[in-house]
Amino acid sequence: MEGSSSENKEETTHTEEYKLEPLSELRVEVDSGAEVELELTDGKAEVFGTELVKGKRATFLPSSKLAVFTWHGCSIKLIGKTEMAYVSKETPMVMYLNVHGALEQMKRKASEELTPGPRIMIVGPKDVGKSTVCKLFLNYCVRAGHAPLFVDIDVGQSMISIPGTLAAAVVERPADIEDGFIQSVAPVVYHFGHFSPNENLALYNLLISRLASVIQLKCEANKKTNLSGVIINTSGWVRGGGYQSLVHTAGAFEVDIIAVLDQERLYNELVRDMPDFVKVILLPKSGGVVERNAHSRTESRDSKIREYFYGIRNTYFPHSFEVKFTDVKIYKIGGPHLPDSCLPLGMKSQDSKTKLVPVQPGVNLMHHVLSMSAATTLEKLVEVNVLGFVVVTSVDAERQVFTVLAPAPRPLPKTYLLQMDIQFLDIK
Ligand SMILES: Nc1ncnc2c1ncn2[C@@H]1O[C@H](COP(=O)(O)OP(=O)(O)OP(=O)(O)O)[C@@H](O)[C@H]1O
Ligand SMILES: [Mg+2]
Repeated sequence: MEGSSSENKEETTHTEEYKLEPLSELRVEVDSGAEVELELTDGKAEVFGTELVKGKRATFLPSSKLAVFTWHGCSIKLIGKTEMAYVSKETPMVMYLNVHGALEQMKRKASEELTPGPRIMIVGPKDVGKSTVCKLFLNYCVRAGHAPLFVDIDVGQSMISIPGTLAAAVVERPADIEDGFIQSVAPVVYHFGHFSPNENLALYNLLISRLASVIQLKCEANKKTNLSGVIINTSGWVRGGGYQSLVHTAGAFEVDIIAVLDQERLYNELVRDMPDFVKVILLPKSGGVVERNAHSRTESRDSKIREYFYGIRNTYFPHSFEVKFTDVKIYKIGGPHLPDSCLPLGMKSQDSKTKLVPVQPGVNLMHHVLSMSAATTLEKLVEVNVLGFVVVTSVDAERQVFTVLAPAPRPLPKTYLLQMDIQFLDIK
């Protein structure tokens, strides 16, 4: 590492300068209690595919983990406290760029032949950088002048909406350099209600099919979207039901390429099970990917919900108001597990997993996230997208009202609400 450090007058401000050689990256783990600033002073560099602007300081939030990569060499100033900062020359970026190049080539061919652009699904176990690689491909794709569809079916760590949802959106601009936020247009969001697909696999697969048909319509309606292709982010659950869901997703979205990060076993399974026209490729994971323990996963889910209401830098002002029990109709999706012998003739316990179960409002709703469905009739409730979310912050059973934290002022846009298993405590 070529670095020098200097202490400013203020004890807390610590500045380090790095000169990066071509094809190397500076990996930074920001301290949990402070922000850091980065300034590109010479050359060119990017953070997961979003370019840094020379001379303009970018501020990164506490606990962020990022890499500043340079293709041709650069100089960077790092101002502030980090938990870890080091330079690495071992990166898989050239291989990732090759995949991007192949996707671009497929788009050129698609535009000549008037066929849809490439659809790629990124898969792999936990903590291999799937979400980061999606962001990288999205950014490169946008920088090449396209507007791809991004589909996120990772209900644990959604990059488009809050956890507990599956969503798709058109991406027209590179991700925000500072918070990494994917700037999407017109997202379509579906309520799942749990952090793990395993909690209700039947519903999960149903919503994947639903999302795939919505994507199909979007592609048919917009030539540019159709040609720009689809990028799908998945969850790290790759065994058993998780694997079956990946196979289902590949079929539903008619993917052309599956990029497997880091796991040869999964790669071989997919090569075995995919039809010939699906290209399965194995890519190495970056040594920079930071593993997350259960606690930091919980924290990041919580902060995703917090950000929905308060904004990443507390710039939103959420509303709080009372809702009468009689003004809403609340449902949960999926009945309790019953053996098939207890069910009406011909019905399987799997069927009950996608059935609506009415919820009587009461203290049982405390702290639960409720999805505001766009549905106007009960029949469509499971398969219709949601408009947003509220959290129940108090319940007054005597007055038959509950109070919600909401992104917009009263009244609620529609009457149907879907209760998530997911809870959020509005403290901090
Ligand atoms: N090259 C890198 N240098 C530094 N940090 C990185 C690098 N690549 C990824 N990270 C960080 O590692 C963390 C985990 O990466 P990411 O979320 O992409 O993994 P994942 O496979 O999607 O995880 P999950 O299984 O939870 O979905 C993120 O905080 C990301 O910013
Ligand atoms: Mg991820």
